[in-house]
Amino acid sequence: MEKLWTGRFQKPLNEIADAFNASITFDSRMFREDITGSIVHARMLAKQGIIASAEAEQIVAALGDILAEIESGALAIDEKCEDIHMFVEGELTRRIGDVGKKLHTARSRNDQVALDLRLYLRAESEEMIALLQAVIQAVVKVAAANTDTIVPGYTHLQRAQPISFAHHLLAYCAMFERDIARIEDAKERMNISPIGSCALAGTTYPTDRVFEAEQLGFRAPCLNSIDGVSDRDFCLELMSAFSIVMMHLSRFCEEIILWSSWEFSFVELDDSFTTGSSIMPQKKNSDMAELIRGKTGRVYGNLFSLFTTLKGLPLAYNKDMQEDKEGIFDSVDTLKMCLQVFAPMVESMKVKKENMLAAAKGGFINATDLADYLTKKGMPFRAAYKLTGQIVAYCIEKGLDLESVDLETYRSFSELFCEDLYEAIALSTCVNKRISLGGTGKESIQRQIEYYQKQAQ
Ligand code: ARG
Repeated sequence: MEKLWTGRFQKPLNEIADAFNASITFDSRMFREDITGSIVHARMLAKQGIIASAEAEQIVAALGDILAEIESGALAIDEKCEDIHMFVEGELTRRIGDVGKKLHTARSRNDQVALDLRLYLRAESEEMIALLQAVIQAVVKVAAANTDTIVPGYTHLQRAQPISFAHHLLAYCAMFERDIARIEDAKERMNISPIGSCALAGTTYPTDRVFEAEQLGFRAPCLNSIDGVSDRDFCLELMSAFSIVMMHLSRFCEEIILWSSWEFSFVELDDSFTTGSSIMPQKKNSDMAELIRGKTGRVYGNLFSLFTTLKGLPLAYNKDMQEDKEGIFDSVDTLKMCLQVFAPMVESMKVKKENMLAAAKGGFINATDLADYLTKKGMPFRAAYKLTGQIVAYCIEKGLDLESVDLETYRSFSELFCEDLYEAIALSTCVNKRISLGGTGKESIQRQIEYYQKQAQ
């Protein structure tokens, strides 16, 4: 394929170098953005009298045809071209001849690729936000069905205090909500138009960058043309936000994997989201959750790969920057798939309430409440804490739990104990009396559930 830049060259590009240099195999996914940008550019050129209106109309019509044909599959993207920009321009010129050659006036591939990537990632960010909202709603649904499900809450993976399973799940909704805010924030900063920066220095033509920015839905054109072509912060910001989403998904998946084990047996994933073993007939593996956890590594990796690519680059555009795309496209695809799998996987999982309750009954997780009982009767908390520790030690020695020690024994530890202590350390009391704002008590859970449900309306 003849290059568009052959004027100065005597020899064609070496075949291996040609393949090495090309980005079409991965940047072709931006064909829509490339054509949309070109249509606006042609209109701007005509509006400013840089090309004739009739010429712009011809260019716009042909670009419209090319777009429709690529979308319908009638036109295949020729992978012998260097990149998607060259393909579209080449195809345009093939169709309308010399007029097509006018499109690249007052433009460079450097601002073109920066534009395409921003447009592409802006759209993908919106999709990602919608997928995250779907995940939140799936989690809220499970939470709403489990407000009365008591489960041990853990610290150090040791049973700590009884909580409602809904409360545990809702913690993840808070994380996903911040994730949405981070992506929205990155999207907002990304939404600045680089087109018209040209190669790096701007142009001598009387272009209208504000018009182009407005037509393409940007907040404004960028202020500095060198920054316009060399900035990839928006990729890093988005990949950072994606990495944090993956970290949240991964933590959740790690818990689901633990909960699905025989040892916990707190949940059972639906058959449609698990796999069997090729050799062990009894197995039901949480492959989807494991894969999400595993794929977190590659999303982090893509972020660090681009950080490293960019760190030594002098201004402005360098070909190194072509390396921005594969990583971020992979992160987009990976995160999308993870979110799409995660929502129905969580929503369809079976919650084994009895097993959760049974686990909550062991491990003295109401010991804090016993100490609080004494404190409310006037004993200083530190003294109550120590005495409760002694009672726990007594229970361990006798093979008892706190509920099964009789009142007489309790009173031998402290005269403050009365019959109402049993009510005070009942697991349901421990959960529902935690009425502090954001605690595991009923009202707090209801408030959280309503908060997220309202977002869906
Ligand atoms: N394929 C290139 C990229 O992805 C487009 C920009 C090329 N610009 C250049 N001066 N060679 O970065």
